[in-house]
Amino acid sequence: MRYAVLGGGKRIRPLLVWFSCQAFGGEPTRALPAAAAVEFVHAFSLVHDDLPAMDNDDLRRGRPTLHIHAGQAMAILAGDALLSLAYDTLARAGLDSNTEIALIRELATGCAGMISGQVFDTLPGVDPPIDSRAALERIHRNKTGALIRAACRMGAICAGANTEAMHAITAYADSIGLMFQAVDDLLDVEQPTDHTGKRTGKDADAGKLTFPGLLGVQGTREQVEALLGRAIDGISPLGAPAEPLVQLAEQLARRDR
Ligand code: IPE
Ligand code: IPE
Ligand code: MG
Ligand code: MG
Ligand code: MG
Repeated sequence: MRYAVLGGGKRIRPLLVWFSCQAFGGEPTRALPAAAAVEFVHAFSLVHDDLPAMDNDDLRRGRPTLHIHAGQAMAILAGDALLSLAYDTLARAGLDSNTEIALIRELATGCAGMISGQVFDTLPGVDPPIDSRAALERIHRNKTGALIRAACRMGAICAGANTEAMHAITAYADSIGLMFQAVDDLLDVEQPTDHTGKRTGKDADAGKLTFPGLLGVQGTREQVEALLGRAIDGISPLGAPAEPLVQLAEQLARRDR
């Protein structure tokens, strides 16, 4: 569990929790347990994503994947335990119980969405066929977007955000969630493995439905810009407290690892 969580990673989801709490006037340290909980689920999702039965990857965050390091059985079990630890962390967050329950429900929704996205991504045949663009968005909005949405909403929940605020942060999250996976797909096409710390150039061979596969590199870049614009438009009316969210969205659009 330590190997999977503490061995690097950009910590984007915890940052989103922190900045979303700040955006609505919350004291961000209140959101630290929620930030940790989302990262635990994310780390679990990566450990299982890398397993031979899933993407069969041997490199993650610049190191051997957990199943290479410790064996498949330990990787499966460490992932299971991280998922459990996430909810334990929320239940012990020391917040009022209504807030803790709201956070637990939010993370459960995000996690279920992530898992459904992994099903669509990994077992595309299980569902009736839909057109490729709709299928692509369904995969990406779930496998990656759902946890990013949960992160943003959990930060807002820690700030005691009202319904209108929840709508604003959700719209931001949905744009950057889809954008994040579009950029991840671009990295797979454009960046060398020694730069990203994970194997690249794999998605097409694995038959994955991706943004560059469907729209090409240029078309994907245009999508990224459009989604970035949408994210910023939704959140910038909040003014200075939301500035970190604006800046983070810009960085995520331009990231190269
Ligand atoms: C990789 O996520 C998996 C996706 C959901 C695209 P990140 O790019 O956030 O991975 P780390 O946490 O920085 O390693
Ligand atoms: C992973 O998507 C999404 C998860 C839920 C982990 P990818 O399979 O594209 O992520 P990487 O490229 O292995 O990090
Ligand atoms: Mg995958
Ligand atoms: Mg993968
Ligand atoms: Mg990828």
